[in-house]
Amino acid sequence: SVQATRDDKFSFGLWTVGWQARDPFGDATRPAIDPVETVHKLAEIGAYGVTFHDDDLVPFGADAQTRDGIIAGFKKALDETGLIVPMVTTNLFTHPVFKDGGFTSNDRTVRRYALRKVLRQMDLGAELGAKTLVLWGGREGAEYDSAKDVKAALDRYREALNLLAQYSEDRGYGFRFAIEPKPNEPRGDILLPTAGHAIAFTQELERPELFGINPEVGHEQMSNLNFTQGIAQALWHGKLFHIDLNGQHGPKYDQDLVFGHGDLLNAFSLVDLLENGLDGGRAYDGPRHFDYKPSRTEDLDGVWESAKANIKMYLLLKERAKAFRADPEVQAALAASKVAELSTPTLNAGETYTDLLADRSAFEDFDADAAGAQGYGFVKLNQLAIEHLLGAR
Ligand code: GCO
Ligand code: MN
Ligand code: MN
Ligand code: MN
Repeated sequence: SVQATRDDKFSFGLWTVGWQARDPFGDATRPAIDPVETVHKLAEIGAYGVTFHDDDLVPFGADAQTRDGIIAGFKKALDETGLIVPMVTTNLFTHPVFKDGGFTSNDRTVRRYALRKVLRQMDLGAELGAKTLVLWGGREGAEYDSAKDVKAALDRYREALNLLAQYSEDRGYGFRFAIEPKPNEPRGDILLPTAGHAIAFTQELERPELFGINPEVGHEQMSNLNFTQGIAQALWHGKLFHIDLNGQHGPKYDQDLVFGHGDLLNAFSLVDLLENGLDGGRAYDGPRHFDYKPSRTEDLDGVWESAKANIKMYLLLKERAKAFRADPEVQAALAASKVAELSTPTLNAGETYTDLLADRSAFEDFDADAAGAQGYGFVKLNQLAIEHLLGAR
């Protein structure tokens, strides 16, 4: 059904629907929305969760009394709607203090300030029950190679993340940390630019098991990468801690379109993987988090229409992917393509290279020409997928 339930685990950032559509060329086209209103609207359209940067909820620099009042109002809205806060994150990019980064600014005092800002947001996140802390280092990077000592920057990044993990464990917060890769924008080049870079980086931390990634559809596609393939690898590493769903048309500026409004075929294979990738069950059970921006052309009605569109796209794709998997013709095509055969280990149980060397059928008697002549039927399989996607089957 295309009616969202809480079990679907749809969540939205306050900064998504709340984007006032300021861009480098033009002013805001929409008024700010009160986070309390956002919580109620999100509950109405079927979301189960809301996420935020510290400054999305409490304006930067607000005094303690203002902050307490805003948080109390937000909590009340959560109570009234039953919405949860599965994830929080920290804004280390808007204020000019972060123009050369937060954790990796060349200025040490800025780095110490950034750490304090994140620790404060962890306190609030833990109080609200958040389980995941997203780390999007949009300003951690450079425009000029000579301006940033990348090895030193990675040392400082590691130092920062080790501290956050220790704080979380010492305080009993139990956060899992999700690094969000992006290749560029707002910096010319951002550190940890792709899922692969970020996964490799987590292995260098003191508590690697607490660190995973929060890949965003558009960010991998900005690098001309296949998002579904990146997600499959993140799952393989046990590193898919969170996911940002949206739409993007290939390598260009970060479009943050509605999920499925960019590369629709890749969105289909992604939902198929997330929903059916584990022996027919969910391969990923965390929040389906939409990190999109309602286009600048939209008014407030358009904001909520576009929010609903994200949910509807996901549920339609989920339906289509289920139908694809259930179709006997698809199953026959998958078998003809030997898709399942890849799960059979290449060696027999206990087989050694000595046994392999002794197996004449593997080499001396192997008919490479015959094996090279066979067709794999992948195009037929893909056509069936597209027909299901189009609702033509
Ligand atoms: C982007 C990013 C950001 C982050 C968010 C979380 O579009 O460049 O997605 O929106 O996800 O700031 O910290
Ligand atoms: Mn983005
Ligand atoms: Mn994102
Ligand atoms: Mn975004």
